Amino acid sequence: MKLWGGRFTKPTNELVDEYTASIYFDKKLAKYDIQGSLAHVEMLNVCGIISKEDADKITEGLKKVAAKIESGEAELSAESEDIHMNVEKLLIEEVGPVGGKLHTGRSRNDQVALDMRLYLRVALVDLISLLGKVQESLLNQAKANLDTVMPGYTHLQRAQPVLFGHHMSAYVFMFQRDVERLQDSFKRVNKSPLGAGALAGTTFPIDREFVAERLGFDGICENSLDAVSDRDFVVEFLANASLISTHLSRLCEEMVQWSSAEFNFIELDDEFTTGSSMMPQKKNPDVAELVRGKTGRVYGHLMGMLTTLKGLPLAYNKDMQEDKEGMFDTVETLKGALALFAPMIESMQVKKENMHQAVKEDFSNATDLADYLVGKGMPFRESHAVVGQVVLHCINQGQYLLDLSLEEFQSFSNLIEEDIFNALTPETVVNARNVAGGTAKNRVEEQIEKASAYLKEN
Ligand code: ARG
Repeated sequence: MKLWGGRFTKPTNELVDEYTASIYFDKKLAKYDIQGSLAHVEMLNVCGIISKEDADKITEGLKKVAAKIESGEAELSAESEDIHMNVEKLLIEEVGPVGGKLHTGRSRNDQVALDMRLYLRVALVDLISLLGKVQESLLNQAKANLDTVMPGYTHLQRAQPVLFGHHMSAYVFMFQRDVERLQDSFKRVNKSPLGAGALAGTTFPIDREFVAERLGFDGICENSLDAVSDRDFVVEFLANASLISTHLSRLCEEMVQWSSAEFNFIELDDEFTTGSSMMPQKKNPDVAELVRGKTGRVYGHLMGMLTTLKGLPLAYNKDMQEDKEGMFDTVETLKGALALFAPMIESMQVKKENMHQAVKEDFSNATDLADYLVGKGMPFRESHAVVGQVVLHCINQGQYLLDLSLEEFQSFSNLIEEDIFNALTPETVVNARNVAGGTAKNRVEEQIEKASAYLKEN
């Protein structure tokens, strides 16, 4: 007999039980479901809705059910559909008919919204802490690479040299905004929907604030229809997770490129790479590739959730049961990636010499030659054209700018003097970008300091 079987004359079709059940995945919410029920039953007693004796029995029973689910001893069934009804059924088995008083003044609709928020709250805290570890590993690499000059790219073409420490700190700031987004979303997640009932509230004189406070919420959802029918907090989480995945994926792509023979800028530690079953020489950046690849499923969950909610009339609709798997999978996917990321970054070997050599074999100091001429009074547009000519000449000769003699330089402009040779070295070029946020060593040090201060406050 179903908990709601009273008005039915036939049992549900077995296929329907299987199809509509969510127990296969919402069993993850067991802990939170029981946490919510413990607060609810305490409130029912405090408000004089059930006796102390009944409340105590239910409380004891719920704790036993929690232990049995935790140990795997409890049998969870599709026949009982979801975690809420499974727990209630187990409770009644444990304490008898008095267990049936637990659901007074409550619906599964406000209950499930509560469980989702309790789950997500914990996940947000975990993810913020994992992101912090990734930020730390990037900062450590940044600090260790304040003298490492590498080619900076636009369009994946060598553009201007930058410090590897500058490149690493760029990601620290991206992840900082991700942390801030999660922190900001926390306040919208941290509201209690319990007491909204099925949609309209309840006739019992419950105390919603009491339950909210017991569960550590900052307050209650103000409108009962809204409380049970929106999952915008899930969408917001999935959107934030999508951005985190984007940032991770871009860095992964760079790590894959940098560890190729073509770049040869880094070597990932053996611990974070894998081999080929056929080609003995291979060392593949599988972790970085897979993190990049899993971005697809996170984006997919965001699209899935948005699409599920679109066009749903108020209030609760069974469609909303589809909110769970994507959220769980996103939390687990991100946790897995972030946990691996910090040690993978930390243990990555940076081939400083190769980066430096690459900068010497390109035209990434061309802007500096143009800026040099501007310093001697030439309008920038003109110097840009002159340097274009110099670069073309070098390409035809198989040379780089610093291979030219003073006479050759002067054949393009007699404004060029002996000091040009120092003006075009990678170190000078980098340190000349001495603007706030720029790649000059002291500016990157400033950025690292700022980022470290943010990290301490997270
Ligand atoms: N398993 C359901 C869900 O995840 C719980 C709420 C069910 N409510 C209902 N009226 N059928 O959404």
